[in-house]
Amino acid sequence: MKAEDLARLLAYYRDLGIKDLYVCPRGSPKESLDFDPAERSASRAEAAAAHPSRFRPPAPEPATMFSELELPSLAPAGDTLEKIRADIGDCQRCRLHQGRHNIVFGAGNPHTKLVFVGEGPGEEEDLQGVPFVGRAGQLLTAMIENTAQKEGIPLKRAEVYICNVVKCRPPDNRRPEPDEMEICGQFLFRQLAVIQPKAICALGGTAARALLGLKEGVTKLRGNWYQWMNIPVMVTYHPSYLLRGANKDAKREAWEDLKKLFHFVYD
Ligand code: URA
Repeated sequence: MKAEDLARLLAYYRDLGIKDLYVCPRGSPKESLDFDPAERSASRAEAAAAHPSRFRPPAPEPATMFSELELPSLAPAGDTLEKIRADIGDCQRCRLHQGRHNIVFGAGNPHTKLVFVGEGPGEEEDLQGVPFVGRAGQLLTAMIENTAQKEGIPLKRAEVYICNVVKCRPPDNRRPEPDEMEICGQFLFRQLAVIQPKAICALGGTAARALLGLKEGVTKLRGNWYQWMNIPVMVTYHPSYLLRGANKDAKREAWEDLKKLFHFVYD
């Protein structure tokens, strides 16, 4: 790859907020290429507090270190969801591939004004290859459609786009690990950069952390606007949390959050 192409590619990744590139040097095992070890050890929350939208890493050091590496192919201009899916391929970049049946890329209207981001596929999603089709998904569909209807907004689930931070099911539905989020996050960021919605809804703490770099819990973050790459982000509870017997306040708050979100996007 020519040096200027490489520089453009890396600049694009930086603009998307991607800090680490997980690449496979020819002839050696996969490893994480850390642009800036000092920054990695610094508290992400501190950095995020200093930069309320997603903070950006400094420019990487010399390009010579990349000369032997296979970088993921990425077309900064003219990126599409199809290209992103093709780049994911039969992904084995992290351990989550070991237990998956299907990669759950995302579903819905690619020209939507609104994207919902969850944590990662559950059992049913893994089997079907479609996000939010299990119990939590049914609740999410009802939350979207019923809230919109009550507010006089004719919105159906098929009109929004729904995806997750990680595209493979974590074992026993555990939370994705930070390295899994970093690796898969690059594809989420590209999806959002392609769709360019008017707003994003982060469902739960994992999505909020991936998009905003904030480590505060969802109870603290919910109901407020943040930004990912200049796109407004509303944080609310994950439907699984609401299903796990969250108190009545949480359900009412989630409903308030969606009302705020829908009026912002569709009024
Ligand atoms: N929970 C998620 O976060 N995503 C899904 O797709 C399903 C359940």
